[in-house]
Amino acid sequence: MERKDFILKCGQWCVSAVVGGSLLQACSTTYYATNTMNGNILSFSKKEFQEVRKDGQTRQRKFVLLRSLRLNYPICVFALGDDRYSALLMVCTHNACELNPTGDYLICPCHGSEFNNTGKVQNPPAEIDLQSFKVTHDENNIHVHL
Ligand code: FES
Repeated sequence: MERKDFILKCGQWCVSAVVGGSLLQACSTTYYATNTMNGNILSFSKKEFQEVRKDGQTRQRKFVLLRSLRLNYPICVFALGDDRYSALLMVCTHNACELNPTGDYLICPCHGSEFNNTGKVQNPPAEIDLQSFKVTHDENNIHVHL
């Protein structure tokens, strides 16, 4: 193998490792909840926040994502504790990039803005908080009012 081919192969391997690792990390934390639409209300079970692991253990998710045909971006529903929730449109208020959920934050991959789990700007360049939706719940289900 010539030196040029070797360098090219090493470069391809490095890019594959970085991209693959990022995708695996994103997949392990991103979960779309099954939901139903009734009028302007998206509803889903509170059980969607429970993650059953391979060993049978369960753990509580910090957030789940919802899709609606009415919106061009997903909604991130955060569990804030004590049966309180926030529902945030995952579009950056700086320049409309789709946000990535990470722990208790939504982070913009375009220029690095960060928003907390109630949609408040934590880091610029975004200056405007995220669009949020009213959330209600009953014993078993959570309802996001669009
Ligand atoms: S579009 Fe999100 S920080 Fe610029």
